Amino acid sequence: GAVKQYKFDVEYMYGEPDCVEQVVIGINGHFPGPTITAEEGDTLHIILTNNLFREGTVLHWHGIRQYGTPWADGTASISQCAIAPGQTFHYRFTVDRAGTYLYHGHYGLQRTAGLYGSLIVNLAKGKKEAFDYDGELNLLLSDWWHKTTLEQEVGLSSIPFKWVNEPQSLLINGRGQYNCSLAANVMKTSLSECKFKGNEECASQTFDVHPNKTYRIRIASATSLASLNLAIGKHKLVVVEADGNYVKPFTVDDIDIYSGETYSVLLRTNQDPKKNYWISIGVRGRKPNTPQGLTILNYKTNSATVLPTSPPPITPQWDDYNRSKTFTYNIFGLKGTQKPPKYYDRRLLLLNTQNLVRGYTKWAINNVSLTLPSIPYLASVMFNVNGSFDTKIPPNTFSEGYDIYNPPLNPNANTGSGVYMFQLNQVVDVILQNANVMKGQNSEIHPWHLHGHDFWVLGYGDGKFQQSDERKFNLKNPPLRNNVVVFPYGWTALRFRADNPGVWAFHCHIQPHLYMGMGVVFAEALSNVKRIPNQALACGLLRNVSIHKKHN
Ligand code: C2O
Ligand code: CU
Repeated sequence: GAVKQYKFDVEYMYGEPDCVEQVVIGINGHFPGPTITAEEGDTLHIILTNNLFREGTVLHWHGIRQYGTPWADGTASISQCAIAPGQTFHYRFTVDRAGTYLYHGHYGLQRTAGLYGSLIVNLAKGKKEAFDYDGELNLLLSDWWHKTTLEQEVGLSSIPFKWVNEPQSLLINGRGQYNCSLAANVMKTSLSECKFKGNEECASQTFDVHPNKTYRIRIASATSLASLNLAIGKHKLVVVEADGNYVKPFTVDDIDIYSGETYSVLLRTNQDPKKNYWISIGVRGRKPNTPQGLTILNYKTNSATVLPTSPPPITPQWDDYNRSKTFTYNIFGLKGTQKPPKYYDRRLLLLNTQNLVRGYTKWAINNVSLTLPSIPYLASVMFNVNGSFDTKIPPNTFSEGYDIYNPPLNPNANTGSGVYMFQLNQVVDVILQNANVMKGQNSEIHPWHLHGHDFWVLGYGDGKFQQSDERKFNLKNPPLRNNVVVFPYGWTALRFRADNPGVWAFHCHIQPHLYMGMGVVFAEALSNVKRIPNQALACGLLRNVSIHKKHN
């Protein structure tokens, strides 16, 4: 493959994502960041300069497995030190598999502040996709707040706790409309019609298509919080790819997409070519307080400024979880997808709970809320730095009697920075168990994302996972993914092979949940990790000691 070099300057800048001027994090003067397009087998060399004034930064290449380059995963305190203001860091890694991906900040709430972009890997020349299409559209979805991320961070780490609340706007390719609707004229809505004078950078990006063709729509969700539902007026969608893997094609009217997920859907432009159609995104799984995000699918037989004559698709009822389950449970690996190992070597049962730690509101996994150490794990384990993280291994399971349907009897949890250790090629099962929140009767959606791997999604269920549920696991055609949802009061089972020496984050992709400790860290086959650039590891205490690699 070729080496593709990019220079990325990360900086604060003014922008107007939803037509309200605000400070955003941009790359090379753009928000969202530039779309990276590469070919399978290429090596990406990204030279990142941190031009933020007062904070470190990192970029994570979400969905890229980083075989042999765990130091390039872009997770602050895990794979590398945050890059200090004024400093430059070189990411260098291979994109070994075609698919739809994204990149984003992985430090504090920087993703919420706008640090993200699309990453598209095409097949190597001469190879053919599992489906045909004539053209491609790319949709990067996100949510947007008017409260600054600094204020959000302070709220999340205060007593009393201040939640970030619902986003003001939903964005498609970084554009949305605050407090107005493109579709006000055809909708019964209290919102007034958006008035664009001309070339506002927030005016929605329209998507051009020709009639009677098939388009591949790549969709990635970088949302901080929102679970979304996407629909295109009058058109069906055929789901063909999820998280960089082919899935068994299935046809739907709309798709649910959780934070950190990517999909490709095929769209046949078989509707009246004298009209344009709405592309809409709306909130699922939380009582919405955010207007639908809208843009236009423009049949080139019309002008792009022609508004559709019918109202936009109605987003399904936010709490219709059965509908979401129907969609999610329908995702299977395409024939030919690698099959999971029949047996596991290790099984973790991870209980997701909301807790208090010394009065602060946190999320915890088996009663441990993750706090990241100042020295990245990868550096500590490579150079045997003692005492930089908890050597106590976090619990493999939780107490059998735990009542997932009610608030915890004892709301208190602990913080911790311990890691789960796996040997090379161990087969690991993880059962994610959802539960009731700390107060009242409610259980939230959590989309979990694993770094450095794909996993097979073996099954889902309502209530508490039972040993007997294992009989229902799908070992025949489970999808391979890197992101999976855990439904309220339910469980999700996944399996992966620890075949990638390194230290990897596994966490809820909702940004404030991760910030509140909702994650764990996996360390894999550490004696097989090789060649880590000093640049990735020089921070904190390590800046002052000479580094001698003790392995091999
Ligand atoms: Cu896209 Cu660790 O996240
Ligand atoms: Cu969560």
